[in-house]
Amino acid sequence: MHSLLVTGGAGFIGSNFIRYMLAAHPDLLIVNYDKLTYAGNLENLSGLENHPSYRFIRGDICDHETVARAMEEHSVDIIINFAAESHVDRSILGPAVFIETNVTGTTALLDAARKYGVVRFVQISTDEVYGSLGEEGTFSETTPLHPNSPYAASKTSADLFVLAYQHTFGVPAVITRCSNNYGPYQFPEKLIPLMIVNALNDRPLPVYGDGGNVRDWIYVEDHCRAIDVVLHHGVAGEVYNIGGGNEWNNIDIVKLILRELGKPESLITFVKDRPGHDRRYAMDSRKITRELDWKPAKTFEGGLRETVRWYLDHAEWWKRILSGAYEEYYRTMYVERERSFR
Ligand code: NAD
Ligand code: DAU
Repeated sequence: MHSLLVTGGAGFIGSNFIRYMLAAHPDLLIVNYDKLTYAGNLENLSGLENHPSYRFIRGDICDHETVARAMEEHSVDIIINFAAESHVDRSILGPAVFIETNVTGTTALLDAARKYGVVRFVQISTDEVYGSLGEEGTFSETTPLHPNSPYAASKTSADLFVLAYQHTFGVPAVITRCSNNYGPYQFPEKLIPLMIVNALNDRPLPVYGDGGNVRDWIYVEDHCRAIDVVLHHGVAGEVYNIGGGNEWNNIDIVKLILRELGKPESLITFVKDRPGHDRRYAMDSRKITRELDWKPAKTFEGGLRETVRWYLDHAEWWKRILSGAYEEYYRTMYVERERSFR
């Protein structure tokens, strides 16, 4: 029986991944290792507390001793690293913690992977390592790395350490680079949940710049299934791009959300742009499709409708988040922005 250390399992994608894996592979032990930062929320895993194949440990990936204890206590032989500071806007406000968790934390896990001789290390990375595209083209695994935000720079550094540990020490590591995820349990600082929650509260919907930036959206469960495939069949030292093949500009998504909720477009507010805002991302996922037989299953319209429904049905989940430190974050991030209408 394999024992997986899933770091960052109390966050958005990590918690969806744990639910997915417990259902798909009942023979695996899943050890969720999470610091519970503002983004970590054990409510994302409610109902699993007493699952026989699930354990939770509160810990920081930068803390070698706690990581070592978790590895030994549960005979961990696989590490999947989701743990990260994940929000671009926060990385612009304060990059230091992004370097600490995303770079130093990843190398601490790589040291543990070496020490305990894991059979697999999966680094969950992002399309943002490739930078920004013009009107045409897509990112492939051989596109030069060109991170633009502090978040993207920290994720790129982590990727380089993963590849260096694989090359130098033989850590059996693979990297997945995914495009923008959406779905249940996403913290309402990210575009889709923020717009849903604001619309439900009849609050302005702050669209950065001209709203013409393009992202390639993927339903979180499709991403989880891709990670599962890479975990089991990926080749050490390889990078796998994962995308939805589904490009949308921000303003069209915001309008779609308003239509789903029956709210007026007058809630849309164009605000000051994100500094250094990447214009367009689009993934070429042909490698994972060709070599590992994965492709996304969910349509965007269907997935978005389900996601909107999920937020309507789980108002207590996001209202608890909004009642905490979130309001202070929102003020810092948006009040000044909203004053400076374009
Ligand atoms: P998230 O912010 O929702 O969750 C991050 C989790 O990591 C939280 O549970 C948090 O408590 C935990 N964490 C943070 N610092 C930690 C530390 N020092 N030690 C232990 N745990 C810590 O993030 P997400 O959106 O679920 O993203 C998960 C991973 O996927 C990240 O590595 C991110 O870079 C990557 N990714 C995200 C997307 C996306 O669209 N959200 C796309 C591609 C890749
Ligand atoms: O591409 C993968 C990345 O996607 C992940 O690596 C990151 O962890 C994840 O946060 C996400 O980054 P983005 O910056 O693309 O996501 P975000 O939801 O913050 O923004 C999506 C787009 O929407 C972007 O063009 C900025 C815009 N936006 C965002 C917010 C929060 C707005 O116009 N208004 C907003 O209030």
